[in-house]
Amino acid sequence: MRIIDIIEKKKKGESLTEKEIKFFIDGVMDGSIEDYQTSALLMAIYFKGMDIDETTWLTKYMVESGEILDLSKISDNIVDKHSTGGVGDKITLMFLPLMAASGIYTAKLSGRGLGHTGGTIDKLESIPNFRTDLSIKEFKERVKKHHTAIAAQTLSLAPADGKLYALRDVTSTVDIIPLIASSVVSKKIASGANHIILDVKYGSGAFLKTAKEAEKLSQVMVEVGKRLDRNICAVISSMNQPLGRAVGNSVEIQEVIEFLKGNMEPDLKEITFTLCQKAFEKTGKIKTKKEAEKYLEDIINSGKALEKFKEIVASQSGDISIIDDYSKLPQSSIKYEVKAKKDGFVKNIDALKIAKACKNLGAGRDKKADKIDYSAGIYLTQKYSEPVKKGETIAVIYTNKKSAVKEAESMIIDAFEIAEEKPKKQSLIYKIIG
Ligand code: URA
Repeated sequence: MRIIDIIEKKKKGESLTEKEIKFFIDGVMDGSIEDYQTSALLMAIYFKGMDIDETTWLTKYMVESGEILDLSKISDNIVDKHSTGGVGDKITLMFLPLMAASGIYTAKLSGRGLGHTGGTIDKLESIPNFRTDLSIKEFKERVKKHHTAIAAQTLSLAPADGKLYALRDVTSTVDIIPLIASSVVSKKIASGANHIILDVKYGSGAFLKTAKEAEKLSQVMVEVGKRLDRNICAVISSMNQPLGRAVGNSVEIQEVIEFLKGNMEPDLKEITFTLCQKAFEKTGKIKTKKEAEKYLEDIINSGKALEKFKEIVASQSGDISIIDDYSKLPQSSIKYEVKAKKDGFVKNIDALKIAKACKNLGAGRDKKADKIDYSAGIYLTQKYSEPVKKGETIAVIYTNKKSAVKEAESMIIDAFEIAEEKPKKQSLIYKIIG
């Protein structure tokens, strides 16, 4: 078999066989296929696509390219959750303690952010001393003892994805459904969970801009997951506006703690509770939405969920005093209030514009090696459908970069759409697949 023939075949739009896909992944891993040949095949896939069989084989051999976590000694019911990423997306940090407090095991490997705002690992690392560099052994021990652990994605799981993703990133071949689906699902399968809940976002602050594209990606991911024997579903929701009020790193940690103390922003509650409910349904713990909601409210109101969060932070060496004293989290030297330019109601807050402003304030990175400022961020004091008055505060900027404040202010003002009429409340969830 020769890679050039495989490239030629895909270039003509033909389907690849299982053997050809295995040959490709093996060659990527042992170095016998050069990066320029891999890039050429990725570009051919970008233009000609892959059918569901090819996508499933690609996922399977990406999983088999590295270690597969075996968590079966801990439980037969291990849940994992994955978000395709958004602005102010802190849902994992509420999902994990809620699951653990419900007696459901979750094992979460997560990424650092590349782009406008931090990833879940960056947010956690804003907690002083919090360790995300757990070895596989340490990770498993914590899952067993505390029902959950969260660590930075290791290179030993689905390493073929790491290699392909690095090339996709620099050859403009990221945004194509079969490659996204195989990348996401391979990492989830290699992480050892048997129940996978996908949180798929669309909108200005998401990777996919329309609900239809998100639906197509979800259908492919769910089908591939099922074919590879996983109990998988996808919750599709809008990311046109930031989730919650806080966007950044340590500001988001504060919002998570407030949520677990019972001060739940409605949008965060809707998404978190829906994902938890799907996990309850999949593991057979609770069947109906209503019962799930009551159960979740009880574990929050009784303080159990917050206790679990504290336990997780302590088990990963984080400073638990931040839970009652937010001043122990990284603090910015500048706090600047952005004022409304007119009266009305918030009709939209463009998530992408807020994310870009946040990045300029220091909260995101361009390159993997860039350092981020954990204290930088934006807090939206006014959100969708809330009233605003000219001259009153609509958002607060946190930063250490004095030179970035004015530009961030105009980006925030530009992100806010203010209407005369109060817009109607709407559900963020578009569809659930699987
Ligand atoms: N997230 C992933 O993990 N992989 C992709 O290809 C895109 C988003």
